[in-house]
Amino acid sequence: MNKQPIGIFDSGMGGLTVAHAVSKALPNEQLIYFGDSAHLPYGDKSAATIQAYSIKICDILLEKGCKVILIACNSASAAAYDLIKAYLGSKALVLNVIDPVVEYVANKYPQQKIGLIGTKQTVGSQVYENQIHSKDSKITVGSLATPLLVPMIEEGFHKNEISEAIIQEYLSNKSFADIKALILGCTHYPLIKNKVEEYFNNEIDVIDSSEIVAEALGKLLDQHQLKSEGRVKKNEFLVSDITPSFEAATALFFGVKVPLQQHKLWE
Ligand code: DGL
Repeated sequence: MNKQPIGIFDSGMGGLTVAHAVSKALPNEQLIYFGDSAHLPYGDKSAATIQAYSIKICDILLEKGCKVILIACNSASAAAYDLIKAYLGSKALVLNVIDPVVEYVANKYPQQKIGLIGTKQTVGSQVYENQIHSKDSKITVGSLATPLLVPMIEEGFHKNEISEAIIQEYLSNKSFADIKALILGCTHYPLIKNKVEEYFNNEIDVIDSSEIVAEALGKLLDQHQLKSEGRVKKNEFLVSDITPSFEAATALFFGVKVPLQQHKLWE
């Protein structure tokens, strides 16, 4: 049993979709969430910039005594996971949001065709393809960067004609012909899961990574005998910049509004 907190970080509020799944799956764990709202979006930034921010965030989460750091952001998972793992060494465990999904896809869709949507950073890195092919070289991956989806969802445009037109435009891309499943490779996309399913007439599986990742985190804690059996402290939600719209967005991604505390990356 271990009552040290779990650190979860993202470029902003979107990673709260992952934090929400973790808090449901592992209710006895204290979560310390860090949203780098001063520097979002990560999806359009270079790998080097994302790495610099990510290391700084890990320092903050280590100072808070986190036993494991979950990189909730797909873009940071793609750009900074290897570096973070080397940096943390034995100080804390680390999990990203890509590996558990790769494992799931490799087991469930052998030799089939699957799709991926994500930010420019995530799709451009080809990390999903490379990881999937290292497990099953016969799986075909059709991927597309869909950068308009994050601002659209953040503005609350996920259930109207504008969002439907954007979703239709992206998903009608030929990369997605004959796919058996589509990976939602971005923190924000669980909010449009229904719309994506509708677009495909519910004929394909739409993979929301947050639950898969929460389950993988539970297994990792078990393996290392690090699970907490009774929560003592409240979850904390830190952000590098606060605005009313960031606070409002917590309700969108976490289900309920949560109080944010400001913690700058560099003092
Ligand atoms: N959190 C990012 C991701 O999952 C999306 C938002 C951003 O671009 O920062 O890739």
